[in-house]
Amino acid sequence: MTANNLKKKDLDWGNLGFSYMKTDYRFVATWKDGSWTEGETITEEMMQIHEGSPALHYGQQCFEGLKAQTAKDGRVLLFRADLNAERLSNTANRLLMPSVPKELFMKGVEETVRNNYAWIPPHGSGASLYIRPLLIGVGENLGLRPATSYEFRVFVSPVGPYYKGTGLSLISLAVTDYDRAAPRGTGYVKAGANYAGGLLSTKSAQEIGANEALYLDSAERKYLDEAGSANIVLSLKDGTIVTPKSAAILPSVTRRSIMVLAKEELGLTTEERPVELLKELTKIEEMAACGTAAVISPVGKIFVNGQWHTFYKDGKEVGPTMLKLYELLTQIQKGERQDPYGWTQEVVIS
Ligand SMILES: Cc1ncc(COP(=O)(O)O)c(C=O)c1O
Repeated sequence: MTANNLKKKDLDWGNLGFSYMKTDYRFVATWKDGSWTEGETITEEMMQIHEGSPALHYGQQCFEGLKAQTAKDGRVLLFRADLNAERLSNTANRLLMPSVPKELFMKGVEETVRNNYAWIPPHGSGASLYIRPLLIGVGENLGLRPATSYEFRVFVSPVGPYYKGTGLSLISLAVTDYDRAAPRGTGYVKAGANYAGGLLSTKSAQEIGANEALYLDSAERKYLDEAGSANIVLSLKDGTIVTPKSAAILPSVTRRSIMVLAKEELGLTTEERPVELLKELTKIEEMAACGTAAVISPVGKIFVNGQWHTFYKDGKEVGPTMLKLYELLTQIQKGERQDPYGWTQEVVIS
């Protein structure tokens, strides 16, 4: 690490959006004939891959998303990165791709964060360093079969809030007429193809003024699945915290953490179970979308069955339960609160 790499970039940290910003270094490893290379750090952001690559034709491609944050004392913290490594491995298995060993995943993530130290937003800026590991099937191929070689890459970008507004502004969701994933399909893994099919739902949701689409289960179109890029957590009027159980949703690291915090820190009863939306709508006091990018985004209203339904205080205020959960989660992530769960991990910079 040179002194130049340690000097923070001159960015307007407090006003970053959630978009790609080219940083200095990325990590690349390749798989061929049954083994991974040890991986190396490079500066070139453009990739050159064969036109016949299965990643381009058949969606043999997947990714992850996690963040690094600066703590008050200057330490750089990752949040439950082991779960991202595990999920990438599950996704790879589902898509017949070689699994990225946990050690290689962590090496790629840590090296890329360390090398791009200058781009990590400072503590208190409300921004963080988004980390995007991806795994793609490359090489010459035409028939529908798995690739013969693969690239694992990690790049990073400093980001602000995913939804426009402050760190904790109310968002709205619109129930979409389209399905995201079938019960026995690929909804439970982070396959890029899941997202291509969702672009139209997001666009339609935004056309009626919502931030994002809300998906129902595709078998019966009755039960809550998840939002386009986040899981759902509900606080019911009886005080229970409920999250939809579904075979077709991504097992969100954020949601799993929130459920632990609700139970252990707030002493609330938590349930993971199917949620029949129309039947339970009036029982819901607060709703939130949660994910690495969304953090905890309280939902003020949803568009369902041709009309808007509002939650806590007519959808005008963030409810107290989601606010408490947001504070607990973000304080742990930023090292402002003791982490009894061992969720945070320091990336040693030099
Ligand atoms: C479809 C979908 N659901 C849920 C999530 C939230 O998952 P996590 O909390 O692991 O980021 C994401 C974001 O990664 C997502 O894309």
